[in-house]
Amino acid sequence: MMKQKWVLLFLMISQMGCHLIHCSVTYDNKAIVINGERRILISGSIHYPRSTPEMWEDLVKKAKDGGLDMIDTYVFWNVHEPSPGNYNFEGKYDLVRFLKIVQKQGMYVHLRIGPYVCAEWNFGGFPVWLKYVPDISFRTDNEPFKRAMKGFMEKVVNLMKSEKMFESQGGPIIFSQVENEYGSVGKAYGGVGHSYMTWAANMAVGLDTGVPWVMCKQDDAPDPIINTCNGFYCDNFSPNKPYKPTLWTEAWSGWFTEFGGPIYQRPVQDLAFGVARFIQKGGSFFNYYMYHGGTNFGRTSGGPFITTSYDYDAPIDEYGLIRQPKYGHLKELHKAIKQCEPALVSADPVISSLGNLQQAHVYSPKSRPCAAFLSNYDPSNAAKVMFNNKHYTLPPWSISILPDCDNVVFNTANVGVQSTQVEMSVSNSKMLSWETYTEDLTTSDESSTFTATGLLEQINITRDTSDYLWYTTSVDVGSSESFLRGGESPKLFVQSSGHALHVFINGEHSGSGFGSRKHRKVTYKENINLRAGSNKITLLSVAMGLPNMGGHYEFWETGVLGPVALYGLDQGKQDLSWANWTYQVGLKGEAMNVGSSKSMSSVNWTQNSLISQNQQPLTWHKAYFDVPKGDEPLALDMNSMGKGEAWVNGQSIGRYWTTYANGDCQGCHYANTYRPLACQIGCGQPTQRWYHVPRSWLKPKNNLLVLFEELGGDPSKVSLVKRSMV
Ligand SMILES: *[C@@H]1O[C@H](CO)[C@@H](O)[C@H](O)[C@H]1NC(C)=O
Ligand SMILES: *[C@@H]1O[C@H](CO)[C@@H](O)[C@H](O)[C@H]1NC(C)=O
Ligand SMILES: *[C@@H]1O[C@H](CO)[C@@H](O)[C@H](O)[C@H]1NC(C)=O
Repeated sequence: MMKQKWVLLFLMISQMGCHLIHCSVTYDNKAIVINGERRILISGSIHYPRSTPEMWEDLVKKAKDGGLDMIDTYVFWNVHEPSPGNYNFEGKYDLVRFLKIVQKQGMYVHLRIGPYVCAEWNFGGFPVWLKYVPDISFRTDNEPFKRAMKGFMEKVVNLMKSEKMFESQGGPIIFSQVENEYGSVGKAYGGVGHSYMTWAANMAVGLDTGVPWVMCKQDDAPDPIINTCNGFYCDNFSPNKPYKPTLWTEAWSGWFTEFGGPIYQRPVQDLAFGVARFIQKGGSFFNYYMYHGGTNFGRTSGGPFITTSYDYDAPIDEYGLIRQPKYGHLKELHKAIKQCEPALVSADPVISSLGNLQQAHVYSPKSRPCAAFLSNYDPSNAAKVMFNNKHYTLPPWSISILPDCDNVVFNTANVGVQSTQVEMSVSNSKMLSWETYTEDLTTSDESSTFTATGLLEQINITRDTSDYLWYTTSVDVGSSESFLRGGESPKLFVQSSGHALHVFINGEHSGSGFGSRKHRKVTYKENINLRAGSNKITLLSVAMGLPNMGGHYEFWETGVLGPVALYGLDQGKQDLSWANWTYQVGLKGEAMNVGSSKSMSSVNWTQNSLISQNQQPLTWHKAYFDVPKGDEPLALDMNSMGKGEAWVNGQSIGRYWTTYANGDCQGCHYANTYRPLACQIGCGQPTQRWYHVPRSWLKPKNNLLVLFEELGGDPSKVSLVKRSMV
């Protein structure tokens, strides 16, 4: 009887977790300490806006099953504060719901508030309105910036406190991040950089969350903040004070993709080797960036030119499917590390040489079992080593883990897990009754345009409410111009600061130009068809995701900033840079919200069978489809299309662009210091062909698909495919 009561009480306490017993998170030189216990913590990044709320639980469960203790996410300021003081933490941006799903799985959270996040996310996560706060300068000792940053951080921390999300309150958050990879930026800014960083650190600590703060890639992070490492390897990293633990906030599981580039993969043998190197040297926390990368829906991708897919070659793929052998091999690694945990947290490693390129790291605490890591850094040759009077064979570039200093339970290079292949199979769902509507360049609604002398910066005009800005001017051509009597037609020269440009002369598409992530500028220089009299020159400038990194990237300019000039008229060069230009933000179809079913009737759609095969640029297409049976994730195959954006039932699935991957796909071997360039695939193929359509956005029948196509493509070949891993 007595015994049962005690068991009951114990169960009650453990279920109530931290409400009854004293809870706290601290740290020492070895590890994060939770309720008095040092922990080896395994974490993975899953960014809540890169999947749907309906996917969250499955993703988190898969992370738990993969041996993770913890989920890491950034907080994305621009989705939470779309205009100053107007907050949104609901629906797909319900951060608290996401964290409670993590908590329900018994997992911890690293909340990276930033609020600068980089993350290949539009504008690095900053709302675009922030740029237009008077006298602002980002991420430096600037009062308007610091005021806004503090305001958002307080908002997030107060929300977390009110929902009891910090571990000090019984919640899952065991530490938080302020700023993000500021070290090298701050150094370039000099003294103001340092005072801003110090201010940010003190401000964060002052928010009194009851759990530690970290700063990644910030060697000079002041106490009590822990500086942490991000990278492909972090075994050379040590924190800036001997009483801080060695934490790895981003272990890069792969790399992101940009339009025009290949897909970068990271072999799991090397990722596991990197993690084992970090743990054997005394690291006690690592986080996969990404564990699930997901999708940059809508216009959320940064850049410019970051793809809609943010798959990242992560253990859980973009669609939420388990990627093998990556997932399974890491799961086994995690199990092996956990078997070593009692030794790892209780002793310092004793390192001995087993050969030229071979070492043993041995943890043998007095009262606990011994654990050992036998490493072979030789990228080419296996090694036979002697350890504790036993022979061990170590494959090239690998570490064997011996949780009892005797038996090898895991070697990073011996992958026993079966590989999976992605299969995209055509579904039985047909796209029905395609109809078309072409943007009308000839008439413009006076109320939405304005005229200015000279060329204006794009984002200042659009405030990023649309990717598109129209620049229109007119040129008078005298009837005596010699080109009209058979001479060479004049050339139009346009210099744009990015990111893409479509040129129309008298309403006819005359050509296009595209920048890239590294070369944002677009130069257009082509002969154009002019006629006697007035000619209309229309430039459609397209933003492809605002930059997310770089010193003072907020001042980087977008759009047609000139010069713009005509060559080949009798008078010689005619500079149009200071002509009168008429501006219009966005497309007519956007203004009428054509992507949504509510406004279907606002334009006159034409049945596709009635239009010529020669597809027009700047065309909206729509069709209906039913959901295919099954529960496989779905994607649109956009191979037949050019460039634009796609919506399903009014929600944007992202920008698409069938541009081909330029790269060097030489094949990839795991053994050697990893660089993304070494492991490329997909050269010569479209960088991104498939676009995730979340099932939760669909109803059983009559789902509306709308495409806006900039260049011209064949929508009749667009199909819905099912993704599976076989
Ligand atoms: C933005 O536009 C306003 C009004 O047109 C102008 O006064 C201001 O100088 C512009 N700012 C930038 C950074 O281009
Ligand atoms: C621009 O328009 C204004 C007002 O209509 C006019 O006075 C001016 O001459 C025009 N400038 C150019 C360069 O055409
Ligand atoms: C659609 O076409 C009809 C007939 O040509 C016309 O009367 C109507 O104004 C058009 N509607 C729109 C929105 O353009």
